[in-house]
Amino acid sequence: MSFEFSDAGRREFDRLLTRYPDRMAVVLPALHLAQRELGYVSDEAIVHIAERVGTSPAYVEGVATFYTMYNRKPVGKYHVQICRNISCSLLGAEHLIEHVSKKLGVAPGETTPDGKFTLSKVECLGSCGTAPVMMVNDDYHENLTAGSIDRILDGLK
Ligand code: FES
Repeated sequence: MSFEFSDAGRREFDRLLTRYPDRMAVVLPALHLAQRELGYVSDEAIVHIAERVGTSPAYVEGVATFYTMYNRKPVGKYHVQICRNISCSLLGAEHLIEHVSKKLGVAPGETTPDGKFTLSKVECLGSCGTAPVMMVNDDYHENLTAGSIDRILDGLK
């Protein structure tokens, strides 16, 4: 199955291709665009981006898998990403990840059977001063405790 951007996505991709003198620089925003349209970056999207940029699918795949913000498989309605980098780790992120893992009944990288939650461990979310930190979809939650996580997750429908 091949991948095509929506009309708006195609226009945005065309705009990106004119915006950067080096076409390789388009790979990152193009992956964002694909993820915004599909919810994740499919194999077909990788091939499509590579063809349009003029590079190999292996290169685009390498970029997509280097950064934790790109999902290489579909995620649940709520993508719970907990930072496990140094500041967050020092303030108990591993325990919080375990807590969420038990609460949701899934290991990091997995999605609950109802498709509602995906749990991921990620690298620095760039808010180290308010560690520990998690993102749920596009929302940041900071200075986390097990209790605050419970309230946040229990409040999601
Ligand atoms: S270490 Fe967690 S946000 Fe930077």
